[in-house]
Amino acid sequence: MNFQFLLPTRIIMQPGLRARTGEHLQQLGLKKVLIVTDPGVKRAGLLDAIYRSLEQAGIAYAEVSDVKPNPRSEDCNLAADLYRGKGIEGLLAVGGGSAMDAAKAISVLLTHEGRVEDYEGAFTLQRDVLPIVALPTTAGTGSEVTFFSVITDTVRHFKMSLLDYRIGPVMALLDSDITATLPAPIAASTGMDALTHAIEAYTGKPANPISDGLALHAIRLISRYLLPAVRDADNREAREQMLIASLIAGMAFGNADIASVHCISEAIGGLYDTPHGVGNAIFLPFVFSHNRDADLQRHADVAYALGVDPTLDAATAAEKAVERLFEMSRELGIPRFGQVPGVREQDFALIAEKSKSNISDASNAKPMTHESYLAIIREAYHYTA
Ligand SMILES: [Fe+2]
Repeated sequence: MNFQFLLPTRIIMQPGLRARTGEHLQQLGLKKVLIVTDPGVKRAGLLDAIYRSLEQAGIAYAEVSDVKPNPRSEDCNLAADLYRGKGIEGLLAVGGGSAMDAAKAISVLLTHEGRVEDYEGAFTLQRDVLPIVALPTTAGTGSEVTFFSVITDTVRHFKMSLLDYRIGPVMALLDSDITATLPAPIAASTGMDALTHAIEAYTGKPANPISDGLALHAIRLISRYLLPAVRDADNREAREQMLIASLIAGMAFGNADIASVHCISEAIGGLYDTPHGVGNAIFLPFVFSHNRDADLQRHADVAYALGVDPTLDAATAAEKAVERLFEMSRELGIPRFGQVPGVREQDFALIAEKSKSNISDASNAKPMTHESYLAIIREAYHYTA
């Protein structure tokens, strides 16, 4: 056995916790922070309690509030140009994966020369970055505990990944009151993103015994609580459990990896701006089905965690899991691949090529070729059930 497990993030969960952001930043010794957030979070008024709390704690702040879904390299570069040399000591990311990933990239750029494109890949950083505190507003990405930042390179139409232990947030503040305001389609797609993290962490090649336990528990929680959380924003227990599921799925894949579902989803996200969780939900059953014979027992374990009858044999259980994944997407109103805006069959070879070149391609349970990606993409496109 050969693995390591790292979690440098202090995790605090409490309803209404955002109103205490200032005191937690104070404990970190921060006097001036850059808030990184998106227009939706700002419009929803979620920042008001945070501003008040920072002011009460005597912490100065500046703000980048125009982070887009699938955050863009040019926006991160611009934000860094604006705030270099302005005495920023830390970053406070308030939002979903986009805001958190942008904060990670900006933190890199406030401590390193150049542009975010210069740091693509794994372990390209030369020094520590500014501390990042993450306050997730969706239950899906897990970015509050991961070492990844995924940024869309707007010139190459490519989602590039930065991976470095130094960009792992120092603190994650989980406020379940916040996810109660999440619109249902976002709760649905981000929840399926979390499920994909857990399944890819568990079935992927870099899985380890600690990520395994986290991943299976996340799958159980998501299977049980995602639909109730989406259908009823007032279901506090379901929303809270989804925030936990997303976090522990993040801990799992952050210390294992994601795999081919994400490779395809990131490729189509870079081309069509498809929401990340939607892309994952669409391809999850197809890749799971393709992979299952590579490790039948692990795929059966996922099936049992998804609620498939535990008395079924591994092969039947894994087959049932594929049905269950399709059913979850249907119940959550996730579109089929053929319904995604902008999708064109002439792009499929390019999608396969971009998928194959993703840094997580090699982590997939079954080795993937350009042709196997192409077959999955075509199968998903022609799927009409
Ligand atoms: Fe993801």
